[in-house]
Amino acid sequence: MQFSHLSVAAVLALVAGLVYAAPTESDGELFISKIIPMGEYNLTIWSDVPGTTPANAFDVRAPVPCSGNNDVTCSGSHQANSGICNQLVNQLNSNSGVVIGDSPRSICLGQSGNQCCVSWSAAVGSMPQGDLFNAAKKIFSTCFGDNISGLARNVNLNGGCVTECLSNRATGCS
Ligand SMILES: *[C@@H]1O[C@H](CO)[C@@H](O)[C@H](O)[C@H]1NC(C)=O
Ligand SMILES: *[C@@H]1O[C@H](CO)[C@@H](O)[C@H](O)[C@H]1NC(C)=O
Repeated sequence: MQFSHLSVAAVLALVAGLVYAAPTESDGELFISKIIPMGEYNLTIWSDVPGTTPANAFDVRAPVPCSGNNDVTCSGSHQANSGICNQLVNQLNSNSGVVIGDSPRSICLGQSGNQCCVSWSAAVGSMPQGDLFNAAKKIFSTCFGDNISGLARNVNLNGGCVTECLSNRATGCS
């Protein structure tokens, strides 16, 4: 319940911000574009606020052309519960054909204070969820423990070359 109140407040704050203030490069540039109930949790899609300059909050963009190697580095920061991450990665696979739109930047599963998110360093347009699976699965397997945080560089995502991240927040892992 707390999560939904926070979310509504966050969205309202962002809408107000768009009207009254110049956007700043902060976590606040993302807004919730969709919430899909999934079992005991919600699946939340975060997107860039239209008209803002996307923040590269967690890594520089990988060089182009993209190797597509999904080079994984694990992190001790912003770790998420591995059980929830497992569910998130599995649902990317089982719902692989479901297209996510609205300039998406991250997908989170969970609830307030206990969530796992897959995020990526730049908007690459609408894409099927399944495009996120290979790198997310590789981070999950490589960094596996009670808690997980990690990123994959040189990820070929919908024609873009991005860093993809698995962590406890919508805005990246490091
Ligand atoms: C899921 O989202 C709905 C709508 O915002 C909210 O009412 C519900 O409490 C959320 N559930 C969880 C587990 O966060
Ligand atoms: C995993 O995270 C939980 C909750 O923050 C914490 O209690 C636990 O000690 C962590 N486990 C490890 C091995 O870091």
